[in-house]
Amino acid sequence: MRVTCIGIIRFAPINDPFQIYFEKSVLPGNTDFFIRSQKLEFRKADYTDSHRLLNFYVENRNHLSPWEPERSDHFYTLGYWQEQMQNRRAEMQEGRGVYFVAVDDSDKVVAVCNLTNIVRGVFQAGYMGYAVAEAYQGKGIMKALCECVVKYAFEELKLNRLMSNYLPHNERSGNLLKSLGFEQEGYAKRYLKIHGRWQDHILTARVNPARFNE
Ligand SMILES: CC(C)(COP(=O)(O)OP(=O)(O)OC[C@H]1O[C@@H](n2cnc3c(N)ncnc32)[C@H](O)[C@@H]1OP(=O)(O)O)[C@@H](O)C(=O)NCCC(=O)NCCS
Repeated sequence: MRVTCIGIIRFAPINDPFQIYFEKSVLPGNTDFFIRSQKLEFRKADYTDSHRLLNFYVENRNHLSPWEPERSDHFYTLGYWQEQMQNRRAEMQEGRGVYFVAVDDSDKVVAVCNLTNIVRGVFQAGYMGYAVAEAYQGKGIMKALCECVVKYAFEELKLNRLMSNYLPHNERSGNLLKSLGFEQEGYAKRYLKIHGRWQDHILTARVNPARFNE
């Protein structure tokens, strides 16, 4: 089965609507998917991305630190990311997580989106986390990558629901989740230790429309 929607991604003035060239091919036994464009590729991350992910987190350290757990010095080393990608390979093989990157034409990771803590059985659910490089913010790239990952989670992984939670003062992230169809489901006190402090989070989720009649 081959599904294609056509458009072209281009760097345009901020807030210019993007159209993306989607190409998703499903061959028997092969569920890898990718989006190629003149400028960006969306794909699953793998071991060869260790140095790219290191550069992403080093270059965006200040931009990301208010929104992420405190990081050790080891986090900013190639050794850490090589270990991490080996662990993530096992997670992906065992269906416990899937990690995606957006790579630009200079072979740099400019955004990440992760499906983690996937639980099967009666839950059939997972969590979505994401971040875009400071220089690439506000261009619709994060939304486009998240849209594909949500589609993958529902159509390929057949999850029933996806959860994604954000800090109450992270308006941008809240707006992004709303624009992706995530609905607020709750408010959790001291939910995660972010930026060195236990912080409340707004809990949101999106349910797989294809499973409504089950
Ligand atoms: C949150 C974050 C991913 C948003 O990325 P972004 O590049 O602004 O997102 P996009 O350009 O794809 O915009 C997607 C949506 O975000 C919202 N958004 C974008 N720019 C915004 C701004 N300046 N103010 C408020 N909302 C904004 C809009 O809802 C937009 O959707 P729309 O264009 O359909 O209205 C980005 O700011 C980031 O990486 N922050 C640091 C890490 C982080 O917060 N991660 C999430 C932790 S919960």
